[in-house]
Amino acid sequence: KKSEAWSARFSEPVSDLVKRYTASVFFDKRLAEFDIQGSLAHAQMLADQGIISSGDLADIGRGMAQIRAEIAAGSFEWLLDLEDVHLNIEKRLTELVGDAGKRLHTGRSRNDQVATDIRLWLRNAIDDILGLLRDLQLALVDLADANADTILPGFTHMQVAQPVTFGHHMLAYVEMFRRDAERMTDCRRRVNRLPLGAAALAGTTFPIDREKVAALLGFEEVCRNSLDAVSDRDFAIEFCAAAALVMTHVSRMSEELVIWMSPRVGFIDIADRFCTGSSIMPQKKNPDVPELARGKTGRVNGHLIALLTLMKGQPLAYNKDNQEDKEPLFDAADTVIDTLRIFADMARGITVRPEAMRAAALQGYATATDLADYLVKKGLPFRDAHEAVAHAVRACELRGCDLTDLSLDELRGFSPLIGEEVFAVLTLEGSVAARDHVGGTAPNQVRRAIAEARARLA
Ligand code: ARG
Repeated sequence: KKSEAWSARFSEPVSDLVKRYTASVFFDKRLAEFDIQGSLAHAQMLADQGIISSGDLADIGRGMAQIRAEIAAGSFEWLLDLEDVHLNIEKRLTELVGDAGKRLHTGRSRNDQVATDIRLWLRNAIDDILGLLRDLQLALVDLADANADTILPGFTHMQVAQPVTFGHHMLAYVEMFRRDAERMTDCRRRVNRLPLGAAALAGTTFPIDREKVAALLGFEEVCRNSLDAVSDRDFAIEFCAAAALVMTHVSRMSEELVIWMSPRVGFIDIADRFCTGSSIMPQKKNPDVPELARGKTGRVNGHLIALLTLMKGQPLAYNKDNQEDKEPLFDAADTVIDTLRIFADMARGITVRPEAMRAAALQGYATATDLADYLVKKGLPFRDAHEAVAHAVRACELRGCDLTDLSLDELRGFSPLIGEEVFAVLTLEGSVAARDHVGGTAPNQVRRAIAEARARLA
């Protein structure tokens, strides 16, 4: 059987292998709803312009309603022979309504049709992602709120550096996800432009009204060049780049959750429903969700590279290569959506262990910088203060004690500027409270940042 969409030009049918190799219906059928929306808007415009009759338009509307119902019911028969979602739907429409179905493709090509479908689909996915990024930020803000005063060691080079509040630490991720949302929003503007009207590559001879189709489909603009409209997938690449950054942020957080949940650290516990056991080691409770999220970051990064590579060698205008845009794009969006959904749930299932955090912050001379700052405020140049405290730390290390275990006299041995009030400076609470400026870790500032975040996310 020859393909009916272009049979007249061909003397023999393609082999089954070629059919399977070139078909996309088994992955692009998920575009069906957007394909129908695009077709309905196109048909409306054709009728308004007098290119098809109002009777044809009514037939197309009726046929599409039936097709939607069949797809929803699972009774629509997707045929490999019909190659892709577009031809499957058009063929069924023609079966249902006759000639009106055959007129639908007037002034249109699958090239501008598929570009339109993908943009509609992606716009919808971005809106889902924006909602999920917001929900995850809200969950993290709640966690920050409950822990605005909870102190844990902040690390550099995986070594105890300075005390920070757990609230501040959570808000760092809120900032990252906020920028991710900004990137998605920005990407959405360029996704939200209409390719239809470009037809195969050069435009069409029919008196079309592209602005009307754009308005019907909620596009903010029409693509300004027909060759570009059908051939570039930069909007999908941009989305994958933004998606890869979302996953990168999730992955960094995952790494921390895994470390914090390790029994040797014990800063947090993750609710059982997000963990799994071991088939051999009865004592295990493994943080599978964050580990898998860390792993899935690799596949989204891969999709970004796949799309960049897909695009780089293509001459203008449409080439069949572009059919390969869909699986990476779909999987990138699916992965981000699932991951964000599960992370917001999981964030709400985190138990914080303030005692373990505090015990860790009391090791490793976390307030040494506070002592140096104290000496500077007493008039010592910072470099000299740094040196004096380094001597004190070294002495503590030899004795196996903390800076606060030294007596005032012993401390004065490192600098005569040191007075009784130093002991308040060396506490964890004093250290975090002193960093009281925009972006600092002081509980005051954390509370202020939480209020700002809540107002922004409301
Ligand atoms: N299934 C095709 C795709 O995904 C639709 C466009 C086909 N156009 C063509 N000239 N073969 O890109």
